[in-house]
Amino acid sequence: MPQNPANILRVLITGASSGLGAALAKAYAEHYGAQLQLVLCGRNEAALQTLSAELSVRYQAACDIYCVDVRAATQMQAMADDVLNRLGTPHIVIGNAGVSRGTLTEFAEDIPAFQAVFETNVMGLVHTFQPFIPSMKTAAANGQPAQLVGIASVAGIRGLPGSGAYSASKAAAITYLESLRVEMQSHGIRVTTIAPGYIRTPMTDINTYPMPFLMDADVFAQKALRAIAAKKRFTIIPWQMGIVARLMRLIPAGLWDWAMKKTPHKARLPDHR
Ligand SMILES: NC(=O)c1ccc[n+]([C@@H]2O[C@H](COP(=O)([O-])OP(=O)(O)OC[C@H]3O[C@@H](n4cnc5c(N)ncnc54)[C@H](OP(=O)(O)O)[C@@H]3O)[C@@H](O)[C@H]2O)c1
Repeated sequence: MPQNPANILRVLITGASSGLGAALAKAYAEHYGAQLQLVLCGRNEAALQTLSAELSVRYQAACDIYCVDVRAATQMQAMADDVLNRLGTPHIVIGNAGVSRGTLTEFAEDIPAFQAVFETNVMGLVHTFQPFIPSMKTAAANGQPAQLVGIASVAGIRGLPGSGAYSASKAAAITYLESLRVEMQSHGIRVTTIAPGYIRTPMTDINTYPMPFLMDADVFAQKALRAIAAKKRFTIIPWQMGIVARLMRLIPAGLWDWAMKKTPHKARLPDHR
């Protein structure tokens, strides 16, 4: 049966080829079925195609895929132009693409990893949101929902050892998203920051140290969908990590240094894609 475009929820997700992005796409498809238009972005075309086929067949969700690198502003602008022309303004844009690399400043060979992490986790958000803001402003002025969602991390609350690039990038993401939220409020565009704790994905599968309150990606995605629908400004998932994050903020620098002395580091890897 043909769908009424007015009833279709349009959701764009970056980093949809894996982990949290794929789980979010599945959760939206499960929830909205044929009433959903998904735009799935990533670099791994085969993974995006497999996910798109699964969601179309299983849930009748409409899926379009775009192979783009969030570090490339021109690619993101071209993708957004095409989405706006063909599908219309998304109601929800989720900036989820991210990389985590173990880094140590003392090694010159880690500089490319610092760059990749900052460009993906910080500039990637800017490149994802910027091209949609003008049309989302118009949509919001016409009473349509318009929401930008950024996936940050509990790692951005305090500096973790061996994680200088990742922790700093996520701290920057949290603060950037807060600025964006207050900038967008007069335009009726809501901004939601989600800071996950430890979630089971390929990003965490390589960690050999204990990960407290580790949560499955599907469970995370259901909770994230509820937070997005409730238009939360900032949320930590799982809630137990929210308590840990509050404590982390309170600990004085000397006590933090002592507590971090024996904390295991994320492995340094040669992959700086
Ligand atoms: N898992 C956790 O415990 C956890 C905790 C806190 C925060 N997070 C955050 O959650 C987000 C998703 O992470 P994940 O755990 O799902 O990791 P993941 O399974 O490794 O997925 C990362 C996703 O980001 C995409 N991506 C990476 N670099 C990209 C680039 N330059 N351009 C376009 N897409 C890019 C990847 O797609 P392609 O390879 O196809 O490009 C992939 O889809 C990240 O921002 C991460 O920092 C995760």
